[in-house]
Amino acid sequence: MIKESVIKDPALAPEGRLKIDWAAQHSPVLNKLFKNQLADGALDGRKVAMTIHLEAKTAYLALLMHEAGADVTVSGSNPLSTQDDVCAALAERGVRVYATHNPSDAEFERYLEQTIETGPEIMVDDGAELVGRMIDKRPDLLDGVIGASEETTTGILKLKAMDAEEVIPFPVLAANDALCKHMFDNRYGTGHSSLSSLMYNTNLFMGGKTIVVMGFGWVGRGLAKYTKGMGARVIVCEPDPVKLLEAHAEGYEIMNSLDAAEIGDIFVTGTGNLKVLNSEHFERMKTGAILANAGHYDHEIDVAWLEKNGKNEREVRRNVTEYEMPDGRKIHVIVRGRLVNLAGGDGHPVEIMDLTFAVQALAAHHLAKNSASIPAGLQPIPAEIDQLVASTKLDTMGVEPEKFTQEQIDYQKSWR
Ligand code: NAI
Repeated sequence: MIKESVIKDPALAPEGRLKIDWAAQHSPVLNKLFKNQLADGALDGRKVAMTIHLEAKTAYLALLMHEAGADVTVSGSNPLSTQDDVCAALAERGVRVYATHNPSDAEFERYLEQTIETGPEIMVDDGAELVGRMIDKRPDLLDGVIGASEETTTGILKLKAMDAEEVIPFPVLAANDALCKHMFDNRYGTGHSSLSSLMYNTNLFMGGKTIVVMGFGWVGRGLAKYTKGMGARVIVCEPDPVKLLEAHAEGYEIMNSLDAAEIGDIFVTGTGNLKVLNSEHFERMKTGAILANAGHYDHEIDVAWLEKNGKNEREVRRNVTEYEMPDGRKIHVIVRGRLVNLAGGDGHPVEIMDLTFAVQALAAHHLAKNSASIPAGLQPIPAEIDQLVASTKLDTMGVEPEKFTQEQIDYQKSWR
């Protein structure tokens, strides 16, 4: 049954269906948890709103929640990561969708508002887009919410700021901080998919290139690991001295970003901060430098400065914008500084999102069953959810973890 969705074109559904089917085939953890936990009735009739990058893997999570009995509404968390065929396939299967690829700012805002107006009880959020807007603009709907979960580091930062002001009246589970999420998704998933998008969108060889990685958090670690694996010379820039030393110990070059600006061929940001690459860097860069962002928002690279001060802006390749500096040097920005892996590609590998969305699905399920006993504000994901996701994954791989003998358990508890 098609509900009152707002999508680009229902006729695109067949292509979207194929993409979702592929994700489903490679999501053994979600499939197993669906049978054993998610479909136990806890989500039956619950109004669930999701705002996450709307591509096949997210769509599969939305479908499973729908099949578990929830009344699901989805909207995109980034204007360029929404895939219209996936939206059409979701709407066809009975999920309410408010999303189109590359909407105007006003349309993007309206989709989020429409999602909130459905009066969700549970929100699966990304970048705190739903939670923040509801608190700010629709306090009348707050009473109906039993809880939310948050997908990404940037959202966690915003929620911490909200928590400090004590404005969150319901529990928000920090899905991003689950071990089975950020250790795999932020690190391996983002590194792997950002590099493949960079290569696909430029068609350039990474071997021997000097790649500057801005930030050595989870995302930066993955970016550095995979670019080095492709034969690049990797330079890491990071304000935290301990993390910078860690980068050095891993074998990467470390330096100040202004020095790195002069020698980098490709720059990739993954910090959650703003203007990490700005006019001071652009002034020093070599002609032909390529800039990409893997962080949540498109302000890590100061694209606004380039748009204002660069001359002869033009698309030199699909998803590659060229800006000419006053002295004639050319700087290239991939997908206008939006998340390179999602706006310029299909995002994380399916197996990685299988873990992430297993965490998200179990978080929603946990809220549906236990929200009354969880305090309001930002809360950790229960450790049992991490254990369940990891052991389910190992089980699907046919691998059994070591088991301690009683003698070993006693030994670890003794001190004599
Ligand atoms: P994190 O907190 O682990 O790491 C961020 C690092 O950036 C920190 O070490 C911080 O010190 C550093 N940093 C901050 N300002 C900097 C600056 N001016 N120059 C250089 N380094 C700076 O965060 P995480 O998990 O690595 O996430 C980073 C961003 O990536 C966030 O916006 C997050 O939401 C986003 N993200 C994107 C994904 C994707 O699919 N593209 C997936 C997961 C996270």
